[in-house]
Amino acid sequence: MPVIGKFRYLEALPPSSARQGRTLVLIHAFPLDERMWEPQLALAEAGWRVIAPHLRGTNGGQPEAAVPTMDDFAADVIDLLDALHIENAVIGGLSMGGYVTFALFRHAPRYFRGMILADTRPQADTPEAVEGRKRLLAVVREKGAAAVAEEMVPKLLGETTRRERPDIAAHVGDLVRSNSADAIAGAISALMSRPDSTTILSTIHCPTLIIVGEEDTITPPPLSHDMKRAIGGAELVVVPRAGHLSSIEQAAAFNAALAQFLEHRV
Ligand code: MLT
Repeated sequence: MPVIGKFRYLEALPPSSARQGRTLVLIHAFPLDERMWEPQLALAEAGWRVIAPHLRGTNGGQPEAAVPTMDDFAADVIDLLDALHIENAVIGGLSMGGYVTFALFRHAPRYFRGMILADTRPQADTPEAVEGRKRLLAVVREKGAAAVAEEMVPKLLGETTRRERPDIAAHVGDLVRSNSADAIAGAISALMSRPDSTTILSTIHCPTLIIVGEEDTITPPPLSHDMKRAIGGAELVVVPRAGHLSSIEQAAAFNAALAQFLEHRV
């Protein structure tokens, strides 16, 4: 996995004959890490340099002294783009990756050639959600990443995947368990302190693709329909038979939506 300075990321380069200068940046969900984007590295074949940044702390990365915020995660992605001399890219993420995308757009819209918002929402946590985060913080501190995996994996996956794809459930569980308890705790703090991003939706003028799993119960499809209405010209694709982790659960359909958008809209 490439490392530049303090940044680690997953990368796939397009065939040398492909058009240069087209970069796709995909930011991972909670409580996973950049390896969740392995199925999307295939988009390099369509001429895109695909980069999946490793957010600080996850999967054995260097722990930071301070508790991170979404702005810290966004600043790390900006620093990585600068270190790689990437001036603009199609940037997006799934769920927490979408929250980081909003933070990045708030601070540095000039980096966006296009935006991907997958299984995410612009709203901050409700008071009830904050209570749930505090409970999960206690779980991770007392029992570690395995207990978080046990609690979260069934919620992350759609009912079809839970019923038919034990291999995907096992893979996602492995990704969660490979993160440190400190990293998961840091991400929970960032999640519960994130600001509301609904007011920036009408300021997004780059080509935007919204994707959501039809069986997503964490960020259900109506939230994506609302985002589509708020972002001028945005496209929405609902992925059948997928839950919250649509990019993993139905990778072929997710990639087809992404490829179509990249080819025709950016
Ligand atoms: C994620 O998938 O990143 C999380 O479910 C986001 C959240 O809990 O808000």
